[in-house]
Amino acid sequence: MKAIEVNNLSKLYPPNIRAVDDITFSIDLGEIFGLLGPNGAGKTTTLKAITTLGKPSSGTIKAFDIDIIESPQKARQMFGYVPQAVSADGDLTGYENLLIFAKLFYVNKNEREKRINNALKYMGLSDRSQDLVKHYSGGMMRRLEIAQALVNRPKVLFLDEPSIGLDPSSKRQVWEYIKKLNEEFGMTIVITTHDMLEADELCHRIAIMNSGKIAVIDTPHLLKKSIGGDIVSLSLQESGLKLSIPDELGLLIGNDDDRVLISTDNAEIAIPQIIRHFENNGSVVRSVTVNKLTLDDVFMKYARSSLQSQGTIKDNRSVRRSFARRGR
Ligand SMILES: Nc1ncnc2c1ncn2[C@@H]1O[C@H](COP(=O)(O)OP(=O)(O)O)[C@@H](O)[C@H]1O
Ligand SMILES: [Mg+2]
Repeated sequence: MKAIEVNNLSKLYPPNIRAVDDITFSIDLGEIFGLLGPNGAGKTTTLKAITTLGKPSSGTIKAFDIDIIESPQKARQMFGYVPQAVSADGDLTGYENLLIFAKLFYVNKNEREKRINNALKYMGLSDRSQDLVKHYSGGMMRRLEIAQALVNRPKVLFLDEPSIGLDPSSKRQVWEYIKKLNEEFGMTIVITTHDMLEADELCHRIAIMNSGKIAVIDTPHLLKKSIGGDIVSLSLQESGLKLSIPDELGLLIGNDDDRVLISTDNAEIAIPQIIRHFENNGSVVRSVTVNKLTLDDVFMKYARSSLQSQGTIKDNRSVRRSFARRGR
């Protein structure tokens, strides 16, 4: 059984915006799954359809084999949702914000206090639970919103751009909480992001979305491998022209007198072995540089080819610019 199955999902907004255009994918139990793509790709629209907050134009969606379009109530009981825009009320305390959610999700009166306190404690907010939320930092606010979604004890937690607008250290902290929820409770987690680092750090699998379509789905590792891996460049004391390297270390793709280029799956692991190999063969390695592939490179390849097949090169350029700005 899959946690989520989406089949031929489309969403049209009037007059004729194809926000989501016939996408099919599934999410495994216990997986952290990422919908990655630039602004306007259709990520939020997809998430809203799955969480029953937006009605699809066509297609089917199942959660744990339950048709969520036929049984939205059942679906909502299994889901926690943290929207992209700030949803906590600043004029209430942290505790009061969670109480609203507990009531909204019909959490039994006897259970409420315990569940709220557990969720606050889990997200590291117990000591601030009686403070007004408008005095919280951005990171605390986001953690509170995750706590809100946890009151429901969801089987699947959806987070729309979980770290948008956070400073780097709060962002890391939110990532750690997301990983902890997944590891400790085996919770299935679905995030959307335009941040490739975030997707790489958190997700077991990623769907790259662009213009309402999914260009490719795979693990971050295989996505990077599929476009050729990391490039290691070695500078040798003497000519390396006669050298070869064993397959398991990588592929020799350039050999220019005292400079050798090797393409490899994972540079961190391969480099010590490559250096040892060269030194065992009598070559002294003077320096090493690495060009690590990022999901940025992966996006360029897959989103570009999907856009070119649709013939919208102009949009593609702006997409690439917006990724380049954020990527590195
Ligand atoms: N309520 C709406 N009405 C009309 N168009 C919308 C609405 N919501 C989103 N869109 C359009 O649908 C497309 C996808 O939007 P969205 O799903 O929010 O993308 P993302 O979350 O990837 O940034 C965009 O072109 C956006 O302008
Ligand atoms: Mg969005």
